[in-house]
Amino acid sequence: MVALASIGDGLSRCLTTPPVEATAAFQQNAAMLHLRDISKSYDGQPALSPTDLHIASGSTTVLIGPSGCGKSTLLRLIVGLVRPDSGTVTFRGEPMSAQNILLARQRMGYVIQEGGLFPHMRVRDNVILMARYLRRDTGWIEARLEELTDLVHLSMHLMDRYPSELSGGQRQRVSLMRALMLDPELLLLDEPLGALDPMIRYQLQQELRAIFAGLGKTVVMVTHDIAEAAFFADKLVLLRSGRIVQQGSIAELARSPADSFVTEFINAQRGPFEALGEVLA
Ligand SMILES: Nc1ncnc2c1ncn2[C@@H]1O[C@H](COP(=O)(O)OP(=O)(O)O)[C@@H](O)[C@H]1O
Ligand SMILES: [Mg+2]
Repeated sequence: MVALASIGDGLSRCLTTPPVEATAAFQQNAAMLHLRDISKSYDGQPALSPTDLHIASGSTTVLIGPSGCGKSTLLRLIVGLVRPDSGTVTFRGEPMSAQNILLARQRMGYVIQEGGLFPHMRVRDNVILMARYLRRDTGWIEARLEELTDLVHLSMHLMDRYPSELSGGQRQRVSLMRALMLDPELLLLDEPLGALDPMIRYQLQQELRAIFAGLGKTVVMVTHDIAEAAFFADKLVLLRSGRIVQQGSIAELARSPADSFVTEFINAQRGPFEALGEVLA
């Protein structure tokens, strides 16, 4: 709770930061993302079968499903790191193409699975990489760096370390800072809490949810943990073998499963109290 209460300062300063670019052309209630008939195969094997997905502006969507079901591929298609075999990704009302992808990417913050920090660069240089590349004003970069350290609860002195000199939780916070640096409208997070021990993970879940709510970002997040998905999601999207099996709230998936796999997937994750009951029985 301390973490949640103290997040206010950092948040309010972030919220008063002028947006990187004017966004007037984009309607707030429009779809932030619309995937139509999007597909991708590798060596003839579909990683993602033709898929439609609508992501509302300001919502948090969680992609969930077993390892290899296509979650990371879906994020890579959205961010344009992988070109689809079919279909279109429409971002802020505009179909993405080779011409507009670089500009579109500046409006997306992406945390790849395992964080993706460059080990040979200091933390600070990792975080400000894109801002420097885009020749943002040095004063603006420094102010933004301070805001973000406040927001994710890291002290400024850690900015001079290398990623290997941080704990797992600190590295995840730095990855989030890097994704937020340009104040993107869309945050794409691939298992951002995957490698953390349970207590740090719990704390970061609380903080992340407060950050998402406070900043009003559109978030697409991947996890394979159903409880984490339920904690974050306005909408869960459950995938299996490159297809969306069902989307909706956790209550909808639990009460009206599209097929037996949905129920199996929900039931497959044992809670600690259930395990304790079995041990004590
Ligand atoms: N670059 C690649 N080359 C070949 N196969 C890939 C590549 N990326 C992903 N795949 C395959 O596509 C499927 C989906 O992978 P991925 O999207 O990473 O799954 P998830 O993130 O759900 O674990 C897997 O079978 C994986 O082996
Ligand atoms: Mg993955």
